[in-house]
Amino acid sequence: MPATPAVQASGLTKRYGDLTALDGLDLTVPEGSVLGLLGPNGAGKTTAVSILTTLLQPDEGSATIAGADLATEPQLVRERIGLSGQYAAVDEVLTGFENLDMIGRLYRLGKQRSRDRARELLERFDLVDAGDRPVKTYSGGMRRRLDLAGALVAEPPVLFLDEPTTGLDPRSRIELWGVIRELVGRGATLLLTTQYLEEADQLADEILVIDHGRELARGTSDELKTQLGGERIEVTVDSPESIDAARAVLAGVAVGDVEVNVATRTLLAPIAGGVGSLSAALREFESRTIAVSDIGLRRPTLDDVFLTLTGSVPEPADSTPDPDQPTTEPEEVLS
Ligand SMILES: Nc1ncnc2c1ncn2[C@@H]1O[C@H](COP(=O)(O)OP(=O)(O)O)[C@@H](O)[C@H]1O
Ligand SMILES: [Mg+2]
Repeated sequence: MPATPAVQASGLTKRYGDLTALDGLDLTVPEGSVLGLLGPNGAGKTTAVSILTTLLQPDEGSATIAGADLATEPQLVRERIGLSGQYAAVDEVLTGFENLDMIGRLYRLGKQRSRDRARELLERFDLVDAGDRPVKTYSGGMRRRLDLAGALVAEPPVLFLDEPTTGLDPRSRIELWGVIRELVGRGATLLLTTQYLEEADQLADEILVIDHGRELARGTSDELKTQLGGERIEVTVDSPESIDAARAVLAGVAVGDVEVNVATRTLLAPIAGGVGSLSAALREFESRTIAVSDIGLRRPTLDDVFLTLTGSVPEPADSTPDPDQPTTEPEEVLS
């Protein structure tokens, strides 16, 4: 018998007046795996996380989390989860150590255990030196690490991370990915939301793409790319006069419509024959003396998947400053 999933939710719906923030969302996170909930701003990610962590009541739908029923056993759910998010739960005035110690007390770990746990986590998240400084002196990356550490104090079996790296600079993002991978390596079950394709690609076992509160697609990163329809030949011709001839050549090997971008003199043809189709096309270009400045085989990227599904590609991961976070990273620049 397969193990009960760590998170199983069905039909989650949340309305704000006329706006349906979540529209019958189903999701499952098997134990020990990472689900990446991927969607643009306003897709409903935080709403889903807030419902699953008991912070928000759904209008419809049900869920079990780590064996506890969301509607009838919310207290049990709270004891079995950790939450780390954009709304960082850390106290600015307290030191890193004090924050973690306080969380331990709130979870009734006892004085000694709370202190030990705070020290362990500061060590693990590379915050030992900063542990005695108030959080207001921390960089964005350090705050996120502390916030994540806070979610782990009570060693919950299921973790929810809401956009854990939004607004971080690329280096802090990669550091945090390392920390998250280590958690997963230790067997944590994770539901992670992100607007970054690369983050979902890097960390998630399965990706659920949502927009307007609804599922658009789900699968592994590879499955999503395959669903989108395999390989394509991309050709750029030297001169605008060659576009029609090039289109005719590509039509001979394509399995669907050839797309043409006149401005860039680029043509895109869906194919099924891999390298064979590519060399056949190349031979034709040569024999018809069509000058080609670039030709290659292209597999869809997750960006293509996202673009096809949502009609827009999110900002590159390092270009979205987070207004809640300091833009400078004092500690990390100095060290
Ligand atoms: N408290 C609220 N009142 C009204 N609308 C809300 C509220 N919270 C979220 N929304 C709306 O619900 C939709 C989903 O929001 P959210 O779950 O925060 O998206 P995401 O986290 O994916 O950016 C958005 O259109 C947002 O504006
Ligand atoms: Mg959000």
